[in-house]
Amino acid sequence: MKTIDNQKIHKLDHQYVLHSWAKQKGIHPKIIKKSHGIYFWDEGGKKYYDMCSQLVYLNVGHQHPKLIEEFKHIGEIPLAAPGFATASKAELARKIIEVAPRNMAKVFFANGGADSNDHAIKIARMVTGRYKVFSRYRSYHGATFGAGNLSGEGRRFLVEPGIPGFIKFETPYLYRAPVDFKSDEEATAFYLNRLKNQMLYEGPDQIAAVFMETIPGSNGVLIPPKGYMEGVRKLCDQFGILMICDEVMSGFGRTGKMFAVDHYDFEPDMITFAKGVTSGYSPLGGVMVSKTIAAYFDDHVLMTGLTYSGHTVSTQIGCATLDIYQDEHLIEHAEAMGEVLAGRLERLRTYQSVGDVRHIGLFATVELVKDKKTKEPIIAYGMDYGKDKAGLMAKFIGMLTENGFYTYSHESSVMIAPPLVITEQEINEALDIFERVLSEFESTVLFADQSVISK
Ligand SMILES: Cc1ncc(COP(=O)(O)O)c(C=O)c1O
Repeated sequence: MKTIDNQKIHKLDHQYVLHSWAKQKGIHPKIIKKSHGIYFWDEGGKKYYDMCSQLVYLNVGHQHPKLIEEFKHIGEIPLAAPGFATASKAELARKIIEVAPRNMAKVFFANGGADSNDHAIKIARMVTGRYKVFSRYRSYHGATFGAGNLSGEGRRFLVEPGIPGFIKFETPYLYRAPVDFKSDEEATAFYLNRLKNQMLYEGPDQIAAVFMETIPGSNGVLIPPKGYMEGVRKLCDQFGILMICDEVMSGFGRTGKMFAVDHYDFEPDMITFAKGVTSGYSPLGGVMVSKTIAAYFDDHVLMTGLTYSGHTVSTQIGCATLDIYQDEHLIEHAEAMGEVLAGRLERLRTYQSVGDVRHIGLFATVELVKDKKTKEPIIAYGMDYGKDKAGLMAKFIGMLTENGFYTYSHESSVMIAPPLVITEQEINEALDIFERVLSEFESTVLFADQSVISK
C-alpha cells in the first residue's frame, strides 16, 4: 500500500470511516505510527503504555518478531474453503484441544468473538432440541444479533425486542451485592438458589444452555465467588442443560492460566474463544466442543457454516501464536506478573475514590466511586457510550491518556489488561502514572470542591 501522510489519513478517516460505539462528530482518532511490546506511539511521537492490549487481544504484545516473521510465509499454504482440510486448520485445532480442559474434543472455527457465540447458541439448540438460553446481566458477548441478545448490558438494547427465550440472570457482583455476605460460600449459595428458582420458573426442560463469561471482563472483571462455577455446573447437569463459557476475553493466558475455567474445578460443554488465539494479528474465533457434543455430530448434520471458517491465514497465525505462549512461557509469566500487578492495585484501596480493585492474572479493574461509604458510582449505570462525554469517567480516561497510560472504561470500572509480555519494571512505571493521575484527578476534579472547603 502506498504511504499516506497523517493529515490525509485523518481526512479520509473522517470522511469515509464509521467508528464503532461513537457519535461520529467530535471524535478524533489517533493514528498508531509505531508499536512494540507493550508500547505504541501516535502521530505526534507520543509514547503510550498499552494497558488494555488494544481491546484486550494483543496478548503477545505489539509487533512480536515471530508473528511478523510468520506473515512472510503467508501464501505458502493455499487458501481453501471450509470443506477442505489444511495443515494450519488441523494443527491449530489440535493445539487448542491440547491445552483445553480434558473433556474438549473438536473446534468449529469462526471469525471473531460474537459469531463464535452465535454458533455456540446454534450448536446448543441442535444438540438439546431446546430453545431457551440463559445468560447474565453485566456481561458482554458481542454485537451480532445472537451475541447481542446474550449480552446483559446496554449494548443489547439495539437488538431488542430480543430473541424469544433469551433469559437473563444475575452475575455475582460482590462489591454491589444486595446482601452483606459473610463469606464466599454464603454468596455462592444465594446466587445459585436464585438461578435454580429461575430455571424452575422457566421450565428446565426448555433450556438449551447457560451461557457465561467465566469472568465477565468489560463489565468489570467480576470474579466468581468460591464454588459458584462448580455449582452452576451441577445445576446444568441436574436439568440436562449445556454450560457454555465465553473465554473470548479471558482465554489464552489473560488470567494467568490458559483459560479462566482452569482456575475452577469443573468442565464446561463448550468454550468460545477469539482475541488471544491469534493475539488479534488476524481475525479468528471459534467454539470448542466436548467429546459428547463432537460425537453427536458424527451422526447429525452440523447445520451451520461460515465462508471463512478455519481461514488459512488466521489459523496459520494462530499456530504461531500458540507456539509463542508455549516457547516463551507466557502463561506462567502472566501469572507471575499478575502478582506484581495485584500488589500495586491493592495499594490503591487507600485512595478516596477507589471503591474496589479486582484482579486475576493480568485481568484487572479499578472501580471508582464518588463516595466510598455510599458506593455512589462515578458514572450512573447505563450512561456509557457518548452519554457521559463530558462526565467524570471520560475526564479520568482522558487524563490517563494524556499522561501516556492508554486504556478504556466501562461504567465506573477502568480496565487494566496489559500484554502478557509486560515486565515488573513496566508494571511499576505504568502504575506510577496511574497513581499520579488518580491523585491529580481527585484533587483537581472529583473532590476539588471539598479541598476548597477544607482549606
Ligand atoms: C467476553 C466477550 N465475548 C465476545 C466478545 C465479542 O467479540 P468480537 O468483538 O470479536 O465479536 C467480546 C468483545 O470484547 C468479549 O469481551
